[in-house]
Amino acid sequence: MDYKIALIRGDGIGPEVVQEAVRVMDTIGKKFHHNFTYIEVDLGGCATDKYGVSYPEGTAEKCKACDAVLLGAVGGPKWGTDKPAEQRPETALLAIRKDLGLYANLRHATLRPALVDACPLKKETAEKGIDIMMVRELIGGVYFGKRGRYETENCGIECTDLMAYSEMEVERIGRRAFELAQKRGKRVASVDKANVLETSRLWRETMHRISQDYPDVTLEDVLVDNCAMQLVRDPSQFDVIVTENMFGDILSDEASMITGSLGLLPSASIGSNAPALYEPIHGSAPDIAGKDKANPIATILSVGMMFKYSFDLPAESEAIEKAVDSVLAAGWHTADMMGNADQLVGCKKMGSLICEALEN
Ligand code: IPM
Ligand code: MG
Repeated sequence: MDYKIALIRGDGIGPEVVQEAVRVMDTIGKKFHHNFTYIEVDLGGCATDKYGVSYPEGTAEKCKACDAVLLGAVGGPKWGTDKPAEQRPETALLAIRKDLGLYANLRHATLRPALVDACPLKKETAEKGIDIMMVRELIGGVYFGKRGRYETENCGIECTDLMAYSEMEVERIGRRAFELAQKRGKRVASVDKANVLETSRLWRETMHRISQDYPDVTLEDVLVDNCAMQLVRDPSQFDVIVTENMFGDILSDEASMITGSLGLLPSASIGSNAPALYEPIHGSAPDIAGKDKANPIATILSVGMMFKYSFDLPAESEAIEKAVDSVLAAGWHTADMMGNADQLVGCKKMGSLICEALEN
């Protein structure tokens, strides 16, 4: 089969990790007889440097003409919060999510067998295992609500960020979560702050209403503060976690940290019509950019998610997972992971090792 993939290499370590993911795709292409074509798309700080804006016109259209999008990372101190919105990389990231309608962000936090010792939790907690599918609503809520800034009479400047959710928005992400749970552990934890927020009360009502359609799945409500605590107390209790945009942003960083390395976790952002977008959970790590020190595994595993969710190629996806696990089990690691000094490798070498494992 032929597949067309938009590559957003981005900023910082983005280009390095995407390069290794491309090598993995090409290796899979050879082995399983697929043909991957790559379309380069500029987005983020690198686009600001080139065109003066982080989200050049036509970006969404370029991506829509492809079967999937692979993104490295965007952002960096060079394009900080003091810059106008149109120059900031984060603005571009939110815009591409919105324009492609990518409402469901899947972040899969697993503790890989070779890395139980890297888990910062107590050994007996880590040994119970972690396999959480975090389903984050991605194009609604406070990230996209109306903002305001105005002068008050006695208190200086006041700002507002509106959090709004419609029933439709909650229902479509909720259904995604239930459907995923049906294929996994059949448990959904719906995270909200219904003891305080009206949006959360609608969230909760909606989750309970649609749960009737998934009698094989157990639904549990968890308040967001409690969820943050449970994630470090006993993460093995969770199967699928579904939550709104900002809660999901925060909890998914927490969920990734407890697996031992941010450098390992992939993500998928999925909509209904447009191509899905795959990216590592980690950021652009400008401090190590260009030094061949980055860990390409999260991006490589994101390709694995792409094969599974966008192309329906489970065997190819599994081959990638297995190759990564075998390289890790052999003790190879990048600087962000623990291990023996003589098995510390750079980004390129890690990519090569995974490609070799795939070829065997
Ligand atoms: C993420 C990131 C983004 C977000 C930032 C860079 C805007 O933290 O993908 O989790 O908050 O969504
Ligand atoms: Mg985040």
